[in-house]
Amino acid sequence: MNHFQYRNGELSCEEVPLARIADEVGTPTYVYSRATMERHFHAFDGAFAGTPHVTCFAMKANSNLEVLRLFAALGSGADIVSGGELYRARKAGVPADKIVYSGVGKTEDEIAYALSEGILMFNVESEDELRAIDRVAARVGKRAPISIRVNPDVDPKTHPYIATGLKKSKFGVAYGEARRVYRVARGLTHLDVVGLDCHIGSQLTEVDPFLAAAKRLRALLAELAADGHRIRYLDLGGGLGIPYKDEEPPHPSEYAARLLKELGDLGLMLVFEPGRVIVGNAGVLLTRVLYNKRGEAKRFIICDGAMNDLIRPSLYKSYHEVRAIREALVSAPRSVADLVGPVCESGDFLAQDRELPEFAAGDLIAMMSAGAYGFVMSSNYNARPRPAEVLVSGASYEIVRTRETFEDLIRGEVK
Ligand code: LLP
Repeated sequence: MNHFQYRNGELSCEEVPLARIADEVGTPTYVYSRATMERHFHAFDGAFAGTPHVTCFAMKANSNLEVLRLFAALGSGADIVSGGELYRARKAGVPADKIVYSGVGKTEDEIAYALSEGILMFNVESEDELRAIDRVAARVGKRAPISIRVNPDVDPKTHPYIATGLKKSKFGVAYGEARRVYRVARGLTHLDVVGLDCHIGSQLTEVDPFLAAAKRLRALLAELAADGHRIRYLDLGGGLGIPYKDEEPPHPSEYAARLLKELGDLGLMLVFEPGRVIVGNAGVLLTRVLYNKRGEAKRFIICDGAMNDLIRPSLYKSYHEVRAIREALVSAPRSVADLVGPVCESGDFLAQDRELPEFAAGDLIAMMSAGAYGFVMSSNYNARPRPAEVLVSGASYEIVRTRETFEDLIRGEVK
């Protein structure tokens, strides 16, 4: 359920017609619904009510400061993967002791920064990294809380680019190596071994792979306990999928119930890192049609949004629903077309070979389900200023990031 519905013949976000935002803010623009974000956060976090847990929003999905403030106000922590994300999270008021730091390539500067902020824990992805964290902690006179990200080698049955828990993936420590790496960790004097972590992939539409991972972690926890480790946190990563088209991912309540059945008796503090499931269907990319063009073999609708604004269709062949803002177009005749942007690449499309209505120049389109991995993956390719971001709350909206200007494009080129 989200808050993008037709009202009086026009697609609206909560009570604000998207056409009004397009007219006042311009296009392309990302539009987020506060009510949807809050609802999704509560659906996820609430599913674990009664179990000690912390929900650390995976801010790689959407790191707008106002969005982070919104989640921080609901009690969310953050899953970060860079010093830049730590900076954003702290600017937005996310408490440091609710921040977990994942990623295979943390630099010494980033480690020192995270230590100075006092984060909850580092999710460590290699033995080399473990030694680096110990070294930096010794240098700055601190102890570093760590968990080891273990690769449980389960198939998440998702797109290969976003599967992370397979043997061939660069992420995590191999399951068979984990026990040894934990021993190494215990021997390092500036580390506190506090957790066990895994993340198996993204856009999972079944609970079974999560359960398979949970079972493997449970077995490992028993071995770690036998080795004398006192693990307090069990971080299960993110990855719960959303409906983009006709997928039917489990509701967070089902995900929670089945996971808790497997792990609820361990007496550990559970950590979750959901991203997409919280924000994916809470945002759209609003774009305006510029031209219609009939190629020899294809019909093209050219709009002002492009792959630099929303790269998922080009990068993963992802499906995002193309929704007309004028409700009259919903039942109008359709024919196959590509919806493309102005970028000079054949791979620049927002939708390919899709049954679409006859849009007129000036018509508005919402690319649905663009709240996760949308703006955050945008770029300035073709020297295109990045879009504005707008947050709708009921009958009003605010610009939470202004559209970039040409001046922004050359900032930093000092000569
Ligand atoms: N935790 C870790 C360690 C992760 O690597 C990720 C996502 C998450 C949590 C959050 O996963 P989520 O709940 O959002 O599925 N750009 C791709 C998705 C890449 C996901 C990377 N890691 C896309 O647009 O589909």
